[in-house]
Amino acid sequence: MSLLVTGGAGFIGSNFVLEWLSREQEPIVVLDKLTYAGNPENLASVHGDPRFTFVRGDIGDRPFVADLLQKHEVRAVLNFAAESHVDRSIHGPGEFIHTNVVGTFELLEAVRGYWSALEEPAKQAFRFLHVSTDEVYGSLGPEDPAFTEKHQFQPNSPYSASKAASDHLVRAYHHTYGLPVLTTNCSNNYGPFHFPEKLIPLMILNALNGKPLPVYGDGKNVRDWLYVTDHCSAIRRVLQAGRLGETYNVGGRNEMTNLEVVQKLCAILDELRPLEHGTSYWDQVHFVKDRPGHDRRYAIDASLIEHELGWLPAETFETGIRKTIEWYLAHPDWIQGVVSGAYREWVVKQYGA
Ligand code: NAD
Ligand code: DAU
Repeated sequence: MSLLVTGGAGFIGSNFVLEWLSREQEPIVVLDKLTYAGNPENLASVHGDPRFTFVRGDIGDRPFVADLLQKHEVRAVLNFAAESHVDRSIHGPGEFIHTNVVGTFELLEAVRGYWSALEEPAKQAFRFLHVSTDEVYGSLGPEDPAFTEKHQFQPNSPYSASKAASDHLVRAYHHTYGLPVLTTNCSNNYGPFHFPEKLIPLMILNALNGKPLPVYGDGKNVRDWLYVTDHCSAIRRVLQAGRLGETYNVGGRNEMTNLEVVQKLCAILDELRPLEHGTSYWDQVHFVKDRPGHDRRYAIDASLIEHELGWLPAETFETGIRKTIEWYLAHPDWIQGVVSGAYREWVVKQYGA
């Protein structure tokens, strides 16, 4: 038996695979299309491990996925595969509908066919765990309570709308066909292997390269940050003990404005990689045009997973951000590998020359 991890060459998926193989004996098959966000280098440390198989392919390719499920006697599918960047969804929503909605549908169909034909007890033990986001709930006002699992879906970007649609499909496959599904809705992750189009790694790289630190709007939008391995431990726990058909919100109770995040990040860089003449990386901050439809605040109420499954994050923002910055400083080769022509094209498209 093995786990099928879709999108396992991306940021969170690769952290999940590395963590899993460092703790468990059960094999993992990664299915990844290797879009711009998928990077086999993230998994370099497990290449050659007999418990690890990498397959390049698309979650939307139903017959291909059906074959994989059979061949590897998969006992659980963890669906990380998605188009994940809000700004890209604003420039081009089509790919988000294609992968996040249609791709998830095709994946669910392949899984339903495989699961229906399983004998007991394998059928009862099977799991489909869908990795989703807090962005499906929309935006909060400054005094609103944090999102619970009962919060109405009010997605505001093409990305979050496509993730909301995929969450609904997953739910429907449980209610209609009895597929044993679990869904997690997590807040903003950060940590190693984070592609530098997202706020934290973009700011680290730009700071180190003497480039402007582009803060959207007034910089007061609030995100609820969780170190990536804490998200991975939540997923392991939900897989192990989550109630079928349930959704679990995952978050670290670390609400911060973007300006606060950039401030902390600059202070740690000032300490670890001081600039000449005692100046600060903070001087590189530039306020730029806001993201259209920019959600003002996200905050996760993680009471359900904390109380029902006993999950708690291990890192605070202070410990996690320091580890993250140290990781980027220690991995210039990884950075070189991802800052390709395609990445540079995106930076010019989004931020101008
Ligand atoms: P990512 O963009 O870093 O990785 C996505 C991976 O999916 C890449 O390896 C890509 O090649 C792969 N992929 C894309 N389309 C595919 C397809 N059709 N078939 C197979 N593979 C495909 O994303 P991430 O930040 O690691 O996010 C993983 C999941 O977690 C996503 O579903 C995202 O919505 C969700 N999520 C992310 C965050 C966050 O802060 N990054 C927070 C909550 C939830
Ligand atoms: O909340 C979970 C979501 O978090 C995930 O579902 C998404 O996949 C993930 O990308 C992330 O979405 P955000 O839009 O919150 O992340 P991003 O890193 O793009 O932006 C974080 C905040 O920083 C947001 O308020 C926009 C702002 N920002 C971002 C960039 C890239 C800037 O001010 N400047 C920037 O250059």
